Amino acid sequence: MAYHQKISSASFGPDFLWGVAIAAAQNEGAYNADGRGLSIWDSFSRRPGKIKGGAKPFEACDFYYRYKDDLMLVKALGFTVFRFSISWSRILPEGMGRINKEGIAFYHKLIDECLELGLIPYVTLYHWDLPLELQKNGGWTSHQMLKWFTRFVTVCAEEFGDKVKNWIILNEPMGFTSLGYMLGMHAPGKTGLSNFLPAVHNAALCQAEGGRIIRSLVLKANIGTTFSFSEVMPYTQREEDMLAAKRVDAMLNRLFIEPVLGRGYPHVENFPLLDKLHLHNKAWKYIERMKFNFDFIGLQNYFSITVKHNPLIPYLHASEVKATTRKAPHTDMGWEINADSFYRVIKRVWLYGGVKEILITESGAFFKDELVNGVVNDEKRIDYFQQYITAMLKAKKEGVNVNGYFAWTLTDNFEWSEGYKARFGLIHLDCKTQLRTIKNSGYWFRDFLKTY
Ligand code: NOJ
Repeated sequence: MAYHQKISSASFGPDFLWGVAIAAAQNEGAYNADGRGLSIWDSFSRRPGKIKGGAKPFEACDFYYRYKDDLMLVKALGFTVFRFSISWSRILPEGMGRINKEGIAFYHKLIDECLELGLIPYVTLYHWDLPLELQKNGGWTSHQMLKWFTRFVTVCAEEFGDKVKNWIILNEPMGFTSLGYMLGMHAPGKTGLSNFLPAVHNAALCQAEGGRIIRSLVLKANIGTTFSFSEVMPYTQREEDMLAAKRVDAMLNRLFIEPVLGRGYPHVENFPLLDKLHLHNKAWKYIERMKFNFDFIGLQNYFSITVKHNPLIPYLHASEVKATTRKAPHTDMGWEINADSFYRVIKRVWLYGGVKEILITESGAFFKDELVNGVVNDEKRIDYFQQYITAMLKAKKEGVNVNGYFAWTLTDNFEWSEGYKARFGLIHLDCKTQLRTIKNSGYWFRDFLKTY
């Protein structure tokens, strides 16, 4: 079946990277196979009420055993890049110390298979699955984090650096520090500023240090890190809403990229939370160490957000006015669909100056798919991709050096605290049988990529 193409991949040129992304904790499963240690998600998911439907990541998409089949699918859909992450506790079961040879062997096989198929591996070092043993000693809040992370990155670079040239240091640091160490919604389920402030600082240090380690150990490395960016709009033009939007914007969008660019943490007037962050971490001492000259910045945008002043919300004094309430177009996650805002976010990151290249390291949407007679007709997802890719093209034509788009995600997978019901895949997953069925959006990509 051929799909109506509103755009052509040819418009992006022959060197543009079209990829698809997954993450270890969301796809691999095999949580205790071949010497793997537990991660914070294995333990967090056992806590009642934390994950929708009581779902666990233990089996996930069984990617650990089915990686060859899945890579064939990546190839069949026409992608040239495969982004995946390394499970820290699979290669260092206690987070530090001894290496698990079988874990290392798995990633060698996976990388070799990619290379054999002509897929370029983009390897994420940290996609949210901290070894549980490290969390027992404070995890991201501990001042030892830098030492632990250094060991992990060094092992990965020394083991895989001959074959893997494209490295992503952290996946969305704002995601795992806020949800995991402030709001308690993600693993390890910690709350409050006493956890959040040190976690942010350790992540900001690790993101730069990780880059330096890869640079020194991997010849011709192409190094990036990823950030979530979401345009923040005030609900009204009243001053208090505009200031609320400014505060939320600093937290969501500026907190991690500005230190990388050498500007330190952002400052916003009358925002004590940021002042606390500066003070708590003596941030002025670390401006140089938080800086790193990345080869690319990974941009991930899933929604735009509208906020209003709300004195009842601690620290931020702002709350979201949901897309569902405003009757704005939204995905089944309730996230606002706004391709124009995606375009503006790309432009904004570029206009910072100092960003050499942007890759869209994730982009995708959850819609409630139905598998009927072996077909998933997910037209809304196709429309989403067409809109977002068109918006990216507009930014590219205006001179932004955006050179890649990686769809999130290959198969439906373990969507963190949302469990398995929030399906983002181009391929439908039957969680009981592990059967994969390519959705129409997958076929759309195949045809889109063939037009080149
Ligand atoms: C970004 C995260 O990196 C990824 O793990 C997650 O599944 C998607 N957002 C969708 O929520």
